[in-house]
Amino acid sequence: MSTQDGTETSEKEVIVDRNFNDLVKLFKDRIYGTIKGNYRFDMAIEDIEAVLVESSICTPLYALDIGGGLGQMSLYFLQAPSFSKVMYYDVSDEMKRHVDGEIERLSEEFNAGNSIEQEAINKTIKSTKVVTRVGGIKNAIQEIFQEVQDANSKALPDVVTLHAVLEWLSSPMEDLESLLTSMKSNSILSLLYYNKIADDKKKKTYKPRKKPRKPSKLTPYHEFHSDDIEKILVESGFEIARRTGIRIGKFKQNASDEELETYLEQERKIARVEPFCRQGRYNHIVAIKR
Ligand SMILES: C[S@@+](CC[C@H](N)C(=O)[O-])C[C@H]1O[C@@H](n2cnc3c(N)ncnc32)[C@H](O)[C@@H]1O
Repeated sequence: MSTQDGTETSEKEVIVDRNFNDLVKLFKDRIYGTIKGNYRFDMAIEDIEAVLVESSICTPLYALDIGGGLGQMSLYFLQAPSFSKVMYYDVSDEMKRHVDGEIERLSEEFNAGNSIEQEAINKTIKSTKVVTRVGGIKNAIQEIFQEVQDANSKALPDVVTLHAVLEWLSSPMEDLESLLTSMKSNSILSLLYYNKIADDKKKKTYKPRKKPRKPSKLTPYHEFHSDDIEKILVESGFEIARRTGIRIGKFKQNASDEELETYLEQERKIARVEPFCRQGRYNHIVAIKR
């Protein structure tokens, strides 16, 4: 792991976990609902769904979304019939407020509908329990440990999502390790992380920038080597079921929507193939605890 300025050791003294309260609008504009944002989301969902089918895990499922941000994953689980419980955590109360608003809006939207299809979805939403909390990854891990100790409760998450959070933490590897330890056997981790090796040069349609981009407010604290991430997963008893390289970080800035769609169409075909699956600006791994 290394910080963006190359510092290897001193980050613990100088950084704290990044609360996105001041970045909600920027995040919405730059990521949420954009072609790139949708691509990243779709690829992650495809991976999770594929692993759920392959692992024949028993439903109904409980999802824990840590650092859920604007809540795309939680809202997806909320509407997915196979999920009966969704727990959302984020240190940002502004992010949580946004998600609470979206849940309310969705419920109202479906309540207003009267088609058979809408009624079916409405039932799913009503019967699905979503809890949103202002809290950090350590609170979420603590809650899982608490559940383990509570003899009356067997409710541990079946699916944990940690998307684009690790790179914003002050002690990412320690937190990741605690999370992995606290998860139950046969549960699934969906981990999206900012990757150190974004070697897109092998792809001809990709046009690299002439000058490196200045770090923006959305440039994470850390980037990680795939090998380090995979090592910690394997050592914690996880089997890697899916790898996807989301190689869209450096696509030319002024590309038209059409160019971007064409580029992503090509990317989609190779994103899960070696070596591209390890070469994304973001990599997505789905791993099962054995
Ligand atoms: C880059 S955003 C990612 C949001 C979302 N998971 C996604 O993929 O769009 C990082 C989120 O992690 C949250 N965060 C930062 N430190 C955290 C911590 N210690 N525990 C939980 N969430 C945290 C931030 O507030 C922010 O909403």
